[in-house]
Parts: sequence; C-alpha cells; structure tokens
Amino acid sequence: MGERHGDTRGSLPVFERQWREMLDAEAEPEFGAQEQLFAELKCEALAEILPPPPATVLECGCGSAEVSAFMARQGYDCTLLDAAPTALRVARRRFEREGLRATYTLGNVYRLPFPDDTFDILTSFGLLEHFADVDRVIAEMARVIRPGGMFFADIVPERFSVQTVGTVFNAGVRLAYYGLQGRPGRGLHEAGRLFRPDFYENDYSLDTYRRFMRQAGLRGVVIRGNRPVPVLTLPGPVERPYVATLRRARGLWRRFDGAGTPATNWWGAGWWAWGVKLPGDSAADDGEGRARGPAE
Ligand SMILES: C[S@@+](CC[C@H](N)C(=O)[O-])C[C@H]1O[C@@H](n2cnc3c(N)ncnc32)[C@H](O)[C@@H]1O
Repeated sequence: MGERHGDTRGSLPVFERQWREMLDAEAEPEFGAQEQLFAELKCEALAEILPPPPATVLECGCGSAEVSAFMARQGYDCTLLDAAPTALRVARRRFEREGLRATYTLGNVYRLPFPDDTFDILTSFGLLEHFADVDRVIAEMARVIRPGGMFFADIVPERFSVQTVGTVFNAGVRLAYYGLQGRPGRGLHEAGRLFRPDFYENDYSLDTYRRFMRQAGLRGVVIRGNRPVPVLTLPGPVERPYVATLRRARGLWRRFDGAGTPATNWWGAGWWAWGVKLPGDSAADDGEGRARGPAE
C-alpha cells in the first residue's frame, strides 16, 4: 500500500451521493431480506462480545446506523459520527422514527473531535476497508476509547471470500437480465461494476489488521471470519426460500461465525475484529481470544 493515504478512489463523495439518493427517495435505509438477516445475526453476536449497557458508544462512519439503532434500543448511549453530512441525516431519521436518542457528530476518523479516553466502546461497520493507511485510523480510534474500553470493527476487505463466489453469480444474473432485454452492453457495464466498486477498498490481510490493532495499544485482539453465505441477486420468489433456509440453518451459521479457524477466516464474507484498550504500553497481552470488557 506504500504511502497512499485516505481513500485513493474518492469514496466520500460516492457515499455522500448514495445517502442523498436515499434521503431524496424518502427510502428507509433498510436492506433486503438477506441483509436484514445478516444484520440480525451480527447484532446477536455483538450482544455476546460487547460489555452490556449502560455504556457510551461511538460509531465511526455510521451511515444509516442500523447496528447502533439496535444498541440504542438495548440502552447504550450512542454517538454517531460520519464525514458525510447526509449520512447523519439518514441516521437521525432512523433514530427519530423509532423514538431513539443519539448524539450526531459530523467528523473525520483521521481526527476525531473528542478528547482522549472518552468512550466505553468504539464501533465501525464496513468502514476500515476504505482506507489505505488504516493504521492511522485505528490508532486515532483507540485514542478516544477509555482504558479498559472496547474496540469493535466489522471489516470487509477486498479479497477472495464466499462473497466473491456470490459476485460471480450476481454478475451472471445481470448479464442474463440485460441480455434478454437486448441490452448486452448495459449488462457488461453492470456486471463489471460489481468487480470494481466506486469506493476504495484495501486488501490488508487479517494478520496486518491484527498488527495495526496491537500497534494502536489494543490487547486481547480477536479477528474472526463471519457470514458463510453470499448476498445473491435473486427475484422475490427465489429469495424467500433462500432466506428461509438460511434462517433454519442459523445455528450452524453462528457456529461458523464463532469458529475463528483459518478456513472460516478465509471463507467468511467479512471479519469481526475486537480488542480492549489497556492503559499504557506496559500492559501485558492477555492472549488472543480472551478480550476483556470495560467492566474488568
Ligand atoms: C460503507 S458505509 C458504512 C455505513 C454503515 N456503517 C453501515 O454499515 O451501513 C461507510 C461510511 O463511512 C463514512 N466515511 C467514509 N470516510 C469517512 C471518514 N474519513 N470519516 C468518517 N466517516 C467516513 C461514509 O460517509 C459512509 O457513511
């Protein structure tokens, strides 16, 4: 990755445009049935990983803040930060529609507008992969966590995973769909975009993320592959049984997400990474897989 900084493809205007379209369309920032199920499972896992409320939480790059809304419902005190003003409007709309409270902050993760040691928990979902110099971002995030507080990141780097298989399938669907309409050029364009999204994604390995987290003063670092199935472009009548089957298999799915083996880390669509900020450099490493919550 060398000396590249930030996101080299200009992700931020792309995100701002997406949030604006969502806002203008009065669209709820809801996902489809598949994403909804994935989010449910993520929230279930988070409830086991994170210390329970009451606790202060900062979500960086909150976007529509779906997971934070789940946490606010549990009683966490949420601060939502995003660099895209429209993302904050979408997040606020979600929270206010549900009668939830949060603090909304326009800000950049390279320089968070908070003093050192502020939050009990810091979260990000689908954010870290958008930076070339993500070590700087992780260090800045760790700065605002209070000693004993927890860092949690949902990372989806650019690499082979089950979603790559899904993307090949989804590209085929687009080629077939537009091909049948006599618009093969459009099909090629849409299929190509799947393999090169508008926003920047880094391709750091799991070990590199682990190193960056430890450099930032996090200990008890755990990184696990999650989600053994891809998001597929499916028509409603096919999607419903697909999602129903996945729901029936959620026990197996949860076992996959909890395994943390080289195979599940490789195959899983994303990585969940967490660790605890211990005070000072002298803090002893308590070993992988034994992250401690803020209460300890
Ligand atoms: C892929 S979206 C994820 C949104 C949300 N967390 C989710 O899972 O749906 C990434 C978000 O990070 C925000 N973002 C990108 N660069 C940022 C930066 N430097 N500082 C703060 N937020 C940033 C974008 O505006 C966008 O809302």
